[in-house]
Parts: sequence; C-alpha cells; structure tokens
Amino acid sequence: MDTRIAAARERLGSDVVMLGHHYQRDEVIRFADYTGDSYKLSKIASETKAKYMVFCGVHFMAETADVLGQEWQQVILPDLNAGCSMADMAEIGQVEDCWDSLERQVTGVVPVTYMNSAAAIKAFCGEHGGLVCTSSNARAAFDWAFKRGEKILFLPDQHLGRNTAFGMGIGVGEMVVWDPYQINGGVSPDRLKAAKVILWKGHCSVHQRFLPEHVDRVRREEPGMQVIVHPECRWEVCQKADTVGSTEKIIEAIERAPAGTNFAVGTEIHLVNRLAKRFAPLGKRVITLDDSGCLCTTMYRISPQHLAWALENLVEGRVVNRITVAADVKHWARVALERMLEVKA
Ligand code: 13P
Ligand code: SF4
Repeated sequence: MDTRIAAARERLGSDVVMLGHHYQRDEVIRFADYTGDSYKLSKIASETKAKYMVFCGVHFMAETADVLGQEWQQVILPDLNAGCSMADMAEIGQVEDCWDSLERQVTGVVPVTYMNSAAAIKAFCGEHGGLVCTSSNARAAFDWAFKRGEKILFLPDQHLGRNTAFGMGIGVGEMVVWDPYQINGGVSPDRLKAAKVILWKGHCSVHQRFLPEHVDRVRREEPGMQVIVHPECRWEVCQKADTVGSTEKIIEAIERAPAGTNFAVGTEIHLVNRLAKRFAPLGKRVITLDDSGCLCTTMYRISPQHLAWALENLVEGRVVNRITVAADVKHWARVALERMLEVKA
C-alpha cells in the first residue's frame, strides 16, 4: 500500500494537496502534506492552489474545505463512512425548531457552531448573525458573539461550550442544556430567560470517556505529571487538568516543555501514541489519561487501502468520493466560516 500510495502521489504532483488531521493513523498521516487541528486545516484549505484536496479527516472537515475552496477545486474524502457522531447530534430541522422556540421567548441570541457540525448548521449560523468556531478559537468566537448579543446558542458540543463559557467567568448555573428530544428543549421559560449560554445536548463519544477519576489516579500514581486534555472533555475533567487545548495546542505544549516533563493526555489515542513515540527520545514521557485508549472509530475509517484507491483513481482522471456542499448552503456557511477565520485562534 505504501508503495502504491507513494507512486500515485508522485504522479499527481502539485495537482493534489493531502491534508491530515492529528487523529489519523500513522500509516495514513505519514503521506499528508499538511497536518493540523481543524482550524489550521481549514485555513490551509482556504489558501491552497491545488486542484484536488484529499482530506484525511472526517466528513465535516471535507465539507468545510469545499466551502472555503475555489469553484475549480475538488475535495475528496477517501472513505465516505468517515463521519463524526457529534456532528450528527444536531440536525438542521431540530436546530430550526429550537430557534423558533427561542425567538418566541427570548431576544438577542447569537448562534455559534463548533466546526464539528454539518454545513447546513454552519449556514444557519451564518444566516442568523453567528459564526463557526474550533476548539482553538472558541473563546474569541464567544467574545465576538457577546459583542453582538446577550446570549449564545452553542451547537453541538455542550462540553466545549460549557468549558469556554466557564473560562470567561460565566457560572455553570447561567447555562442551560437544550435537549432537542424534549418539549422546549427540557428548559423552563424562566431558566431560558436567565441563561447566558444555551448549550446543545451533544457530545463527543471519544472524549466523553475521560473521567475525573482518571485525573485523580494520575495525581496519585504519577506525582508531578502534567494533565493536558482536549476541551471536548467534560467540565469536571477540564477543571482538574493542568492545561486544556485543541490538538495543535496539546502538541505545542509538549514541544515547549523542558526535558523531564511528563504528560497524561486526554485525547484520541493515535495522537497520544504518536506523541509518546516522538518525545520519548527527548526525555518527555507521554501516556494516555485513560488506559482503555479512546479511539475515534470514524477517523480510523481512512485506511491506506482507501487512500490508495482514491489517489489511483485520480491518476486515471476519475474523482471518487467527492464532497460537495449545495450552492445555497455554501453561501451562508462561507459567511460563518469567514467570520471564524477573522477572529483567529
Ligand atoms: P481539533 O480542532 O482540536 O483538532 O479537534 C477536532 C476534533 O474533532 C476533536 O475531536
Ligand atoms: Fe467527532 Fe469525537 Fe471523532 Fe472528533 S474525536 S471527529 S468530535 S467523534
């Protein structure tokens, strides 16, 4: 597979750019021209001049690349099964219903969606005066939104929303969780009026598995070890951690630390294992916060076989697994994404 991928890649030359998210497996990410968190990859997608972007990541990332790319560029996701369960937790019809209910009860709500959402949700936010954020610029996006309204509707990750708002001094009591499967989201009108942040009831099944007791165990068994977690982890875990940050920030923090610093990392296992291998010779020990190893099974769908198949088809002039966003959705999704790129990380 390595030989076939490398040969196809070479024949395609500068026509192709390969983008790889940090959670990809080693056999795939080694072929990426650029690796990054979802903010960095979306920025590269908006700037590249390559005709084809082969996205080794998940569906919402490929959709974003299509929205930010030029008309003449095409985005390929080597396996269409590479989705994101969190993104699937907010459907556009549910969000529209929620918005109707909110409009009847409160004013000044700005919708903000995490990058990990369908293009239709991003478009909804763009059209209704809101924006997109990633885990590396959520704080800046919240500041942006609070300059324009009094409340934020945050989609679809309740944990990133709670962690970000709490970091700005908003109490947990000033936030409500909107459950799309309950009448009025399961929130009383009074609580809704008093709330500063309305959190959509979504989560990442991978990061959900890290628990406060995992941090307690590390503190007990590995004194001095730094605990660093992704902000998709629950609030109780983030509160106990030493550092909270996006995948790119996690990598930077370990890079910056002096030799002899050890880290327990709460994020996807492929990234943690790669960091462990990379930093061991530099005298920094990296372990996973949860021994059972949290795997993003959808990222894992992108296999060397799928990659070889997609690239070899391109060599033959066939575009397989192209990801396209409908023109009407694209316009407003682009507005929301461009606002995100303006607020930076
Ligand atoms: P990052 O933007 O931190 O890379 O996160 C993307 C993601 O899907 C994490 O689960
Ligand atoms: Fe989605 Fe979680 Fe996988 Fe990230 S780690 S792509 S949020 S399921």
